[in-house]
Amino acid sequence: MATALCPGSFDPVTLGHLDIIERTARHFDEVIVAVIRNPKKADPLFSLEERQEMLAEVVGHLGNVRIEFFKGLLVDFARDEGAEAIVKGLRAVSDFDYELQMAQMNQRLSGIDTFFISTSPQHSFLSSSLVREVARFGGDVSSMVPETVAQRLVDRFSGGER
Ligand code: PNS
Repeated sequence: MATALCPGSFDPVTLGHLDIIERTARHFDEVIVAVIRNPKKADPLFSLEERQEMLAEVVGHLGNVRIEFFKGLLVDFARDEGAEAIVKGLRAVSDFDYELQMAQMNQRLSGIDTFFISTSPQHSFLSSSLVREVARFGGDVSSMVPETVAQRLVDRFSGGER
């Protein structure tokens, strides 16, 4: 059985992430959405539990996708899960250098291959950090994130919590 990891912080999950997860699920028997527990980025907007809830709500229609947390090296998690591939979305050339470097490091460390999927053009400008910033200042992100996430962002930032 071929298992792939879709790793990330998912703070919060965007329509761009969902697009990559859905397309990965068409090519692999099983997909693990791997949510990092100890990201370099301090001060997340949503807790791990909230991120898991949002992900569960938006991938519920995909029977071969599950959500797991990991900490430490992604390749160690991949080995523990028996995953044979990492799948990432590439939005633009600006993603390429860093993603290539990580893919090569992961390959050197473990032999695991990274597959890149081109982000759908309508999502190519999207990132969780930009979505957070727009939502923080009251911008409309309803076309950029799943409905449940948009609502949580509104709830989080209503009442002056900016
Ligand atoms: O959504 P993000 O924050 O861009 O995801 C980055 C992530 C979690 C995929 C990346 O930071 C990662 O794989 N971290 C795990 C630690 C690790 O394995 N580091 C070596 C990478 S070469």
